[in-house]
Formats: sequence, C-alpha cells, structure tokens
Amino acid sequence: MDFDLVVKNGRVVTASDIGTYDIGIKDGKVHMLGPNLPTENAKRVIDAEGAYVTPGGVDAHVHLAEPAMYGKGGTADDYETGSRSAVCGGTTTIVTFAPQRKTDDSILDVVARTHDRATGQAYCDYSFHCIISNPSKKVLGEFETLKEQGITSLKLYMTYASLQLRDNEILDILLAARRTGITTMIHAENGDMIAWLTDKLEEHGHFDPEYHATSRPQLMEAEATNRAIAMAEMMDTPILIVHVSSPSAAAHIRKAQTAGLPIYAETCPQYLFLTRADLQKDGFEGAKCVCSPPPRDGAEDHEGIWRGLANGTFTILSSDHCPFRYEDPYGKKVVVSEEFPKGKFKYIPNGCPGVETRLGMVMSAIEKEEKMTVQKFVEVTCTNPAKLYGLYPRKGALLPGLSDADITIWYPEGKLKPYALKNEMLHHDVDYTPFEGREVRNWPRYTILRGEVVWDKDGEGLVGKKGYGEFVKRGISTLAGPKSKEEWRPDIY
Ligand code: URP
Ligand code: ZN
Ligand code: ZN
Ligand code: ZN
Repeated sequence: MDFDLVVKNGRVVTASDIGTYDIGIKDGKVHMLGPNLPTENAKRVIDAEGAYVTPGGVDAHVHLAEPAMYGKGGTADDYETGSRSAVCGGTTTIVTFAPQRKTDDSILDVVARTHDRATGQAYCDYSFHCIISNPSKKVLGEFETLKEQGITSLKLYMTYASLQLRDNEILDILLAARRTGITTMIHAENGDMIAWLTDKLEEHGHFDPEYHATSRPQLMEAEATNRAIAMAEMMDTPILIVHVSSPSAAAHIRKAQTAGLPIYAETCPQYLFLTRADLQKDGFEGAKCVCSPPPRDGAEDHEGIWRGLANGTFTILSSDHCPFRYEDPYGKKVVVSEEFPKGKFKYIPNGCPGVETRLGMVMSAIEKEEKMTVQKFVEVTCTNPAKLYGLYPRKGALLPGLSDADITIWYPEGKLKPYALKNEMLHHDVDYTPFEGREVRNWPRYTILRGEVVWDKDGEGLVGKKGYGEFVKRGISTLAGPKSKEEWRPDIY
C-alpha cells in the first residue's frame, strides 16, 4: 500500500473510542486504520510515540475581519492571521461569521463580501455562519439560497444595540430557519436590562472594566436563555445557545434537553479559566478579559461549566475568538482618557482572542485534573461541532474513505516540559492573550490538514501555506431537529 503519510504508534482518540493503531493517509483522506500499517512505500511516516492522536479541531465560533459591532473598532485578526493561529493550535476547520449590519439589505451580498475577504487567505479550512441583524422579508427569502451555497447556520443577538433583535423578529427568523433546515445560534443576554443597569452604574460613578461583569449578571443570561428556549419550543426548531458562561443558564438548557427539545449549547475556555478577578487587575489590564457574557465569579461557576461539558449539556466547546488589540488606536485602549484612565467599560470592545489556545489549554487542564475524558474532549471540540453544523463525517472524524485527513498529534507523556504560556508564542495578530502565564502541559505537536503537515512545533513551526485552506460547503445538521416534519401552523402550538 503506497500511503502519502502514515501516522504510527498513536493512541487514537475519537468521540467514541480510544485505541493504539496507525492511520494511513492517501489523497488527503483517511484511507485506512489498523495496527502495524505497512510503511515501506509511504512518502512520509510520523511516529506519534504513543501520544494522543485526535481529529483536527473544529472551532465553530471565530470572528475574523468583522467591522465594529461589539464596541469601537473592527476585529484585529483577518483571515490570514486568524487561520494561521488556528492551525498552530491544532484546529483545522473554523466557522467564522458573515455579519449583516442593520443597513445591509441582502444577506447574499454580505456573504459575497465575506468570501472576498477570505478567498486565498486561509491556512485552514473554513465556512461561514450568517449574523442576521435585519430580518426583512427579502433577507428571510434568501435563506434557501444560503443553504444552496453551503451556509446552514445563523447567529442572532438578544443584546448589543447594533445587532439586538426583538422577540417577534427572532420568531420570524426561527420560522424561516425551520422551513430551510437551518440551525440558529443565539447570543442570549437581555440587552435592555444590561443597558438599563449600565446607566445606573454610570450614575453611581462606576466606569471601571470590572463593572462590565456587574452590568451583565448571570440573571440576565439565564433570563434570555430561558426566553430563547421558549421561542425555539414554540417554533419546534433547533437552536444553539452560544458562549454560555452561567451555571444558571446551563440549568435551563439541561431542563429543556431533558424534556426532549432540540436545544444545543456551547461554552468556551474563558468560562473555564477566567473570573471577575481578571477584570479587576491593575490599571486598564482588566480590559483584556472583557468579553460577553463576562467571566463569572469563581471556582464554583467554573465547576458548573466543567460539569456541563462532562454530562453533555454543552454540545460544543468553541473559542469565540473575537480579537481586539490592546495597544492600538482602534483597540481596547481607545476608550482610555485623562478623565477615565481605566476607560469606561461600556465602550471597551467585547471579546478575547483564543482560537490558538482553545485545544491546548483544555487538554492541559484535563491532563492535570481529569476534568473530562479525552473522548469527551474530542466530542465537544471536533466531532459535535462537525455534526451540528453539517460538516460530518468529512470533518471531526477519522472514518476511512469519508473523513479528510485532518489530524492533531499531541505530545506523549513526559515529552513536553510544562511551561508558562506567553503571547509571543502565539500566531495571531493580537498583542496579548488573556491566558498569559498559565501552565501548558500539552499542546498540538503536529497539525495535519487534508494530509499535509501544516504545523510542526519541534521543527519549523508553521509550515502550512496561506491559501491552502478552502471554503467548505456544509450540509444541514445531523443532530436532532424539529420533532414534527409538518409545516408549522400557529393553531397547533
Ligand atoms: O465578547 C464577545 N463574545 N464578543 C462579541 C462577539 C460575540 O460572540 O458576541
Ligand atoms: Zn455572542
Ligand atoms: Zn454604586
Ligand atoms: Zn462570538
């Protein structure tokens, strides 16, 4: 057998199994799995030395080259730097956003512009979710075409003045999404309550970054989550609640899942590792960790999120890479003035970089504290995002003949001396990481995309080529959808 590449001696982990065998790769696809595959005629052999070998990471929540919408200034990374950062962290597929501003009257135009920004730029494979902020009749009528173009998911917002929708608008979207078989992601925070409390905090003279967390308490996330679930239940259509930070919101989700509703949920590393104390750091430092929802209070909240990952409440774990530079005329510091040296939290752009640190940080935590099994890690970081967003089994799996040869090879036990993470080790175009100084115990040693090594940590580092990454057309979700296949009618619900 003349393989292009054989990955030998791996502890191969999928969402369901773990076993010691080799992976034979041919023409960019996983071709054969088995012990002791022949290597005599292979063009290249990589010895995994007994380390974990997992499917390439699928990060289904990445913001690249977006205009200002979450505070002043657009996102820092573009398709080149963001996708470069992804592969250096073991991620081979990202799903980014094609963002509609309220003034954009066609979502298809928005998608075309997003293609222009991405084409020829990417180091990893990519697809788009559409952000819908103006669900006009015309835009709702374009969903069928979106599906034909391989875009089968939307994101909508219950907060941010520039994006927030009313409940009736959300229902319009859910109805159209149901007809088309599209999955709707919802940013669930109560925007009106946040705006009101923000005004009250400012009246009391509270402007510092830490009040960002005060202005958006768990209650407001839990309320919006419950409301989003009610709308999805009435519409009988699947939704995914994005970036869940609150155990109280997770409890609403769990209850809905137990009732058999197609409610899915995502969480992110920042809700496992950051707390409100990070927002209280000296000077303007706290601003580095301003994201929405905000980091929560402490260990108990983190434990609640880890538990939700282990017990299946969270379907996926994404980065929500939403990068703004720190020292930059358009970055986080744009809000600092002589009168307000720590800035005013209301104007700090919301979001943190994390596409490169997602897998390594979480694997390091698992190796230190056994927070979940490695199979569960693969399920929430690779396989489930692929299933939920119509990429499976081409992505997120290692099925011979079906899956792209997208593979992440880790370090075997004892090979990587634990070290403190530094931003200078990362490949994004951002001048900080919120995880500066955190302990790394394992990290992707090799990243392989469609059979090509694109990251070789002990060798030349980044070896992939800009433009090798391709747009991937997606099908519809293969996770459970509406209960009823009939046309939705107002008189039956
Ligand atoms: O803080 C965050 N999450 N930034 C804005 C993008 C988003 O996902 O809402
Ligand atoms: Zn969001
Ligand atoms: Zn006060
Ligand atoms: Zn986001």
